[in-house]
Amino acid sequence: MDAPQCRESSIFASQQKRQSIVSAGQSHRESLLIEPVHAIATPRPTLLFALASDDPEEVRRVLESGEARPNDDVGPQSALAFALANDQLKNKMQMVKMLLAYGADTSALRDPEAEEQEERSSRRGSGRLSKLLENVDPATRYYIERADSPQTRRASALIHRSYFRPLTRVRYDLIGQDRVLEQLFRVLSMPSMAPIVVLLCGPSGHGKSLLARKFGSLLEVPTHTVNMTTLRDTNDIWKSHSIAPHEDPSDVSLKDFLITNEGKRCVVVLDEIEKTHNEKILSSLLMPWEYGRCSFEAGYRHVDVSKVIWLGTSNIGHDLVFEHQDKRPAPETQLSREEYVDLMALLRPRVSERLGPSLLSRVTAVLPFVSFTTDEKMAIAAEALHALSGDAVSTMPPATRDMIVRTSLNSYIPSEGARSLYRAVSILLLDTL
Ligand SMILES: Nc1ncnc2c1ncn2[C@@H]1O[C@H](COP(=O)(O)OP(=O)(O)OP(=O)(O)O)[C@@H](O)[C@H]1O
Ligand SMILES: [Mg+2]
Repeated sequence: MDAPQCRESSIFASQQKRQSIVSAGQSHRESLLIEPVHAIATPRPTLLFALASDDPEEVRRVLESGEARPNDDVGPQSALAFALANDQLKNKMQMVKMLLAYGADTSALRDPEAEEQEERSSRRGSGRLSKLLENVDPATRYYIERADSPQTRRASALIHRSYFRPLTRVRYDLIGQDRVLEQLFRVLSMPSMAPIVVLLCGPSGHGKSLLARKFGSLLEVPTHTVNMTTLRDTNDIWKSHSIAPHEDPSDVSLKDFLITNEGKRCVVVLDEIEKTHNEKILSSLLMPWEYGRCSFEAGYRHVDVSKVIWLGTSNIGHDLVFEHQDKRPAPETQLSREEYVDLMALLRPRVSERLGPSLLSRVTAVLPFVSFTTDEKMAIAAEALHALSGDAVSTMPPATRDMIVRTSLNSYIPSEGARSLYRAVSILLLDTL
């Protein structure tokens, strides 16, 4: 037996053990799982096995390697419908996110009747999605509706053919901030020889560091994260070690990182950029941001950093974001493109005041992060519940899950953003134990 066959049959063996995950009422699916492998020979049921493994990494692996495609059918239905209908999957949300991130088509979930009704009433919304969504948690529902939205598709199209295309997957990690992503994709779609410098600004706990962290990992390029609050002297920036919060501490300095990755795509995150103690530290960035070249000390040769993507995060303008939000005629809706353009214009002078006009003039884009809508807060709370309770969430009565997610919203603090929801969910979880 060759290697792929061997792997397939071992997956099948473990799949047979998992037959119990398919409920009795799902007979067509059940028959698929218990039939011998030769009966379901074409197309190869790689995606079915991966989904039934209940391991999101296995789903990623088969989609990434091209062994399976996200819109392969799984028996009589789409893979997405299969994952949604299967209540025994402990990692259902992760599976759905993975399928969406790799391009699963949500039109397979549309309910033709509801769609027709919507068409007649000229109302567009999530009503056209099938009944499969009725009982899913708010995060899974949010991700599916997001993938189904025309705005999402329009924004993704901006970088569809570009090197940056994998960044569209960030939508299944970062909740909300659709206008930030749209603007980011616009900037990245512009052909430019100048270095890319993007400042992610705004309130705490709204996903700035999360987006910065995902950037390099989605593009599969190395990332170096500098904690700007700890720097004291001009050359400290080049000596700083990466402090990526979810990775092992690294003993490579930024200088060594840039030399190792000279001329190559990589990401440098400058976390909390406005909290540097000394203005001179920021002036070290003028040359690399303008010319894409860097000299670490007098007499040192120039290093080519033209392909580095510089991402700064900062709280500059968080008050302006909230003031702008308070003045919106429909604060519960997502920002329109025009509203977001206004907000960007409001923030630029404030950034200029804090970081200096000469630095700002070299910044490609200042992207303000905005307030969450109620659906977005619900999705974050549901993600928090999954993250904090682990496997326990799958055995929790749906009414309890619902209660925790809804109640946590009462403790939402705008200036703390998602962090206040994570805290509220963890307190409510303790109460239910
Ligand atoms: N938009 C979001 N979508 C999903 N989760 C989020 C989002 N924003 C924040 N979170 C959650 O809150 C945590 C903290 O968010 P993050 O570190 O990105 O905040 P930040 O905007 O950088 O805030 P600060 O300005 O305080 O550094 C994240 O690790 C994530 O769990
Ligand atoms: Mg941060």
